[in-house]
Amino acid sequence: MNHRFELLITVVLFSTRYIFGLSSGSISRGRLIAPETTESQRQGVTKILDLVYGDENSDEWEARRSQARASGEEDQTLNVPQHELVYGELGLDALATILDAVGVEQGDRFMDIGSGDGMLVSAASMLYSDFLESSMGVEIVPDLYERSLKFQNRLENVLQQIDEDEENPSDGKVELCRSMSLDLGNVYEPNERTKHLFSKTTLGVCFATTWSRNEPGRKLPKLSSALGNSGSCELPAGSKLVIIDGVLDHENDGFDFVGQFNLFVPDTAPFSIARLYTKL
Ligand SMILES: C[S@@+](CC[C@H](N)C(=O)[O-])C[C@H]1O[C@@H](n2cnc3c(N)ncnc32)[C@H](O)[C@@H]1O
Repeated sequence: MNHRFELLITVVLFSTRYIFGLSSGSISRGRLIAPETTESQRQGVTKILDLVYGDENSDEWEARRSQARASGEEDQTLNVPQHELVYGELGLDALATILDAVGVEQGDRFMDIGSGDGMLVSAASMLYSDFLESSMGVEIVPDLYERSLKFQNRLENVLQQIDEDEENPSDGKVELCRSMSLDLGNVYEPNERTKHLFSKTTLGVCFATTWSRNEPGRKLPKLSSALGNSGSCELPAGSKLVIIDGVLDHENDGFDFVGQFNLFVPDTAPFSIARLYTKL
């Protein structure tokens, strides 16, 4: 990683935790907050993700990503602008940086809004297995949704295989959180199940870099009103929402804007902006 950005992230992380008044292992609203992920924890989860989704420098990785891009580009049947379907990935390091900054609380229900191949749902589940009640994803493109199910299945097989091979399970054993779900759904036109999932979400993330690409000021009024007060996928009061490369109409839609920081994401180099909101 570019050291300038590594430093930037470090500085910003401190200030973000300061904004929330959090520190590792602290308590918020009576709930325990997960300690920040360690380097060895991230490495352990990366090894598993590599087995499931391909190693970042491999041909398998490239092929998987170009197939994912093609899935979004080829689907002309969905009632959303085509640029919102352009595929990109946040990646494990950026996700961990964000969730460590926000502070995962015991019992949080994580949701990746537009979950693509499902990598963030898998990564969150493993990184915060002791803290998350559930790790969920909703994806609009049927082909991507089908692919995410296939990868989730592969993940379960990989973990089971490791379990069987490991004679003396070590403390660093990687596990999944209590429940994981991947759903086909549209945040703008949700079915009952999708609405229900959003009503249970306490910690949402949306990598909206492609959704906001053509929007002035990266504003996302449609997403903002869908997730906000009386929206089609209204989030519960007190839930935390991180939008990467997008801006909500927070005053109109019932969010409190908490803060923002720059972070390194390979797909959007030199950097993306993560904005933190809480639902009032
Ligand atoms: C930039 S990709 C992010 C993929 C994944 N979250 C990640 O970071 O690895 C955005 C995803 O949102 C999906 N998407 C776009 N509009 C959506 C909508 N209205 N409802 C649900 N998903 C949507 C796209 O198909 C795409 O897979």
